[in-house]
Amino acid sequence: MTEWQRTDETGVQRSAASTVGIGFLGCGTVGAEAVRILQNRSEEILRRTGVALEVRRVAVRDLSRDRDVPLPADAFTSDPLLVVQDPRVDLVVEVIGGIDPANFLLTEALKAGKPVVTANKELMAKFGPELLELAESAGVDILFEAAVGGGIPIIRPVTESLAGESARRIIAILNGTTNYILTRMTEDGVDLAEVLADAQRLGYAEADPTADIDGHDAAQKAAILASLAFGTRVHDEDVYREGIRDVRAHDVEMAARLGYVVKLVAIADLVPWADTFGVAVRVHPAMIPLTHPLASVRLSFNAIFLEGESVGELMFYGRGAGAGPTAVGLVGDVIDAARNLRQQARGPHLPLPATCPIVPIEDVHSHFYVRLEVADEPGVLSGVAGVFGRHEVSIQKVLQEGRAEDAELVLVTHRGREADVRATLRELVSLTAVKRLAAVFRVINGEEESSFS
Ligand SMILES: NC(=O)c1ccc[n+]([C@@H]2O[C@H](COP(=O)([O-])OP(=O)(O)OC[C@H]3O[C@@H](n4cnc5c(N)ncnc54)[C@H](OP(=O)(O)O)[C@@H]3O)[C@@H](O)[C@H]2O)c1
Repeated sequence: MTEWQRTDETGVQRSAASTVGIGFLGCGTVGAEAVRILQNRSEEILRRTGVALEVRRVAVRDLSRDRDVPLPADAFTSDPLLVVQDPRVDLVVEVIGGIDPANFLLTEALKAGKPVVTANKELMAKFGPELLELAESAGVDILFEAAVGGGIPIIRPVTESLAGESARRIIAILNGTTNYILTRMTEDGVDLAEVLADAQRLGYAEADPTADIDGHDAAQKAAILASLAFGTRVHDEDVYREGIRDVRAHDVEMAARLGYVVKLVAIADLVPWADTFGVAVRVHPAMIPLTHPLASVRLSFNAIFLEGESVGELMFYGRGAGAGPTAVGLVGDVIDAARNLRQQARGPHLPLPATCPIVPIEDVHSHFYVRLEVADEPGVLSGVAGVFGRHEVSIQKVLQEGRAEDAELVLVTHRGREADVRATLRELVSLTAVKRLAAVFRVINGEEESSFS
């Protein structure tokens, strides 16, 4: 045994040279919790995985703030590049967030042959394919389990466990804040503004809720998932996006009467398009049948429902954010990347060529719920039905509601092409009997077969 080898109190032989030095970029909500897990549970991690890990350097903006982590003060620096360049740092964990300087720092780390672990969905959704390519040529890992679904293992199952499977479709609830808001609207019958104010007070929603409410956060995660599930390049700007700002309590209640619940969903599927197959990825509120497994995903929970050709239906459920769950996902990646580094191995190879075209939303087929405020007079329904018919959108169900000033028509369509439904809506609002197009939702039909049918 050389002088740097010893047997520790757990009976495990340790060697200083085989300890993997970790550098953290950021020590905020997620970073501080991950540092605590790695430092406080290092013996157990070593015993269970054979990997000795040590956090050696941490970059933060404000050096004066107490981080409540078991590290000496001189481990901290306000220059993140020093962490990347530190020769005692073998592996870089990025929990700064955003594009700059995260992208530059990770690029520098990969170029220096240091594996990278990140929780940064924004970065991976914008530059993921390019960073994966760089990692590939540098021969090191870039792992990002915590970037989608926080504590839910989904990246590893999709890229490794299901590597032999052809994914057909993913429907997912990827944003806890909007799911919390929609659950409260459904269960308490209140409007969005009221729940949002409550959610902000309880810390479930940010002071500026744009990223959640307008679907940006879910769209970033959808781009990452779609890329991996279908093995093609999907960037966040390829994802069609609508948020929940226009969801009204009245439609949430109407959904329940029709046997649905309103959720903000991310949908990615492979569809026949322009003589080939394309990937259609979108984030929008949708009515989901109460019998669908995703309908039972309440409050701030997330879930990913995946349909595969051979495996059938799978669902992954759990906490999609929060310090603890996200840090656990991050630490799992750190252990994997460290083990690979020591064994001079690599994690999954994820080349993402731009093989599949992105299908524009106009060519996506969905069922629709349409609510119209109408004049309370004879012949309105036949006029409205005629417009649907002219655009080859067939009606599945009609409800006539209210009287006089409150008269409205609620229609649910069979599967129709988005462009045809939009043309229908444009013509409907030009009818004198139609006072207002009050709401439109896409509907996920429980009976519907996958896009291949
Ligand atoms: N929070 C969650 O539940 C969650 C869930 C899933 C994924 N994520 C992702 O995890 C990442 C981190 O999120 P978070 O909630 O932990 O963020 P956070 O609490 O704001 O922490 C960010 C950390 O980065 C440091 N930092 C920022 N810019 C820096 C710079 N230029 N140089 C050095 N340090 C810098 C900050 O330093 P100071 O502390 O000094 O300001 C802070 O320690 C993001 O990509 C986020 O999307 C978060």
